[in-house]
Amino acid sequence: MSGRVRFAVLVSGGGSNLQALLDASSAPDFPAQCVLVLSNVPTAFALTRAQQASIPTAVLPHGGYARREDYDAALVEILKAHQVELVCLAGFTRIITGTLLRAFPRGVLNIHPALLPAFPGMHGVRQAFLHGAKVAGCTVHFVDEGTDTGPILAQAAVPVLDTDTEETLAARILEQEHRLYPQALRTVAERRFTLEGRRVILT
Ligand code: GRF
Repeated sequence: MSGRVRFAVLVSGGGSNLQALLDASSAPDFPAQCVLVLSNVPTAFALTRAQQASIPTAVLPHGGYARREDYDAALVEILKAHQVELVCLAGFTRIITGTLLRAFPRGVLNIHPALLPAFPGMHGVRQAFLHGAKVAGCTVHFVDEGTDTGPILAQAAVPVLDTDTEETLAARILEQEHRLYPQALRTVAERRFTLEGRRVILT
């Protein structure tokens, strides 16, 4: 890869993590540039955030696709047309298949609002809260074919306070997400890691 790494962000909702990535990558010394924001939901506020930052957007509703692989093939076509090199999932609610992963080997990242491997899947914060965990947090990981099972790039711990509600805990975790995701993207864009088995070693 030469120059700044071209990344896309896949979204479905509010896009606060997208905003954090856009803010970080607007710095001239950031090693990656956002070249596309793609949503499966036409009304996602994340699309407005992208437009406000003058980033190209695409909407690809998933409704008309019989198989997840067909949807991902259409995604890949759009991403390749924009010469995307790295893909960041940020609140994208679709399950990714091998069709997308094979097009971007070790090139798809996700952020999850729990300390994986605990509490994968939907509602990570709620699961941790209801379980009574004393420490919660967030994880940035490479995406593989499982649900939130890929090699872990970075994590941040957030203490669960006795006074917390699910909402107050989620808000403190989200603050950490906004710090962690740009940092992990930088690491990957600069290729400052090696993989030893499933362990990501920072170099
Ligand atoms: C975040 O909690 C993220 O961890 C999860 O989905 C949520 C997206 O929030 N994957 P936002 O759209 O980035 O505000």
